[in-house]
Amino acid sequence: MILMTGATGMIGGALARRLAAEGVPFRALVRRAGVTIPGAEVVVGDLDDPATLPAAFAGADQLFLNTAGPYPDEEPVIAQQLAAIDAAVAAGVEHVVKVSTIGVRAGGPMPIGTHAKIEAYLADSGLTGTVLRPNNIMQNLVRGVTMCTPDGELFEAFGGKLAHVDARDVADCAFAVLTRSAFRGGAYDVTGPAALSAAELAAALSAGLDREIGLVQPALDELEPILVGRGMPESYVKHFVEFARLVTAGALADVTTAVTDLTGNPPRSIEAFIAEHRDHLRGDPAKSFWA
Ligand SMILES: NC(=O)c1ccc[n+]([C@@H]2O[C@H](COP(=O)([O-])OP(=O)(O)OC[C@H]3O[C@@H](n4cnc5c(N)ncnc54)[C@H](OP(=O)(O)O)[C@@H]3O)[C@@H](O)[C@H]2O)c1
Repeated sequence: MILMTGATGMIGGALARRLAAEGVPFRALVRRAGVTIPGAEVVVGDLDDPATLPAAFAGADQLFLNTAGPYPDEEPVIAQQLAAIDAAVAAGVEHVVKVSTIGVRAGGPMPIGTHAKIEAYLADSGLTGTVLRPNNIMQNLVRGVTMCTPDGELFEAFGGKLAHVDARDVADCAFAVLTRSAFRGGAYDVTGPAALSAAELAAALSAGLDREIGLVQPALDELEPILVGRGMPESYVKHFVEFARLVTAGALADVTTAVTDLTGNPPRSIEAFIAEHRDHLRGDPAKSFWA
């Protein structure tokens, strides 16, 4: 039995839909009673409350591990994921598929340092761990994560290229490693088909939305006061600026074949994503991007 966390989330939701569509039995751990996940046996549990986990994990042989990102504080996420790994060990789970992040080998600031610590714990747990390390998720454009100015210009702190990947491709990779034992035990940098600079992303948005999307790109040493002024918690800003420095140096620019290798299909392109979400992205910029 596959036990999955994060089934109400973006990547996990896409994975749950795929498992259900393919008729693969799975159990979803959710925090709130009454939540339904089509195709799943639903169990209520909370990774913040390890006492709730043994019943949820009983009989599981695989775990899909994903929680929210470590913003603005990594400690809760580390505690949640370590509790899940401990519960997996106690329950006799054999295989854990963890969603991590691209760039994790560089260590350092949140979010990559956060995932590096959890990956190390998983590696030491004795379980077989398969790690998916997605690049920047395309859905950030429509989830209020990507930043913009009040005029709808792209506000991009990262000077380096990003190989944006669709969350559904990450979920399809998870499906592959959960259902095909040949893929178990690896670590996969999961990227889209191309690495784009911020200017190239703005150009793709402009072309797809039939309207000029400008780009505002502050210098790295100007970032801190801008982000604090936008309400980003100061404790997190330091990590963000350090992360931006890594991205600007090209740490997230590699394009890999992981999606094709694992799923047999090429990764979705940013152009296709923009076309699919055109109405949303052409709406009020404040609703399309985080302003
Ligand atoms: N966005 C990016 O560009 C990007 C890139 C690379 C890696 N990542 C990584 O991707 C992950 C986030 O994935 P996502 O966007 O799919 O997540 P998401 O949509 O924010 O969903 C988070 C899921 O975790 C569940 N959860 C949170 N706290 C929990 C707890 N205490 N106990 C049980 N479940 C809990 C949530 O359940 P509820 O519904 O109950 O809240 C929800 O199902 C992060 O680790 C992030 O670092 C993101």
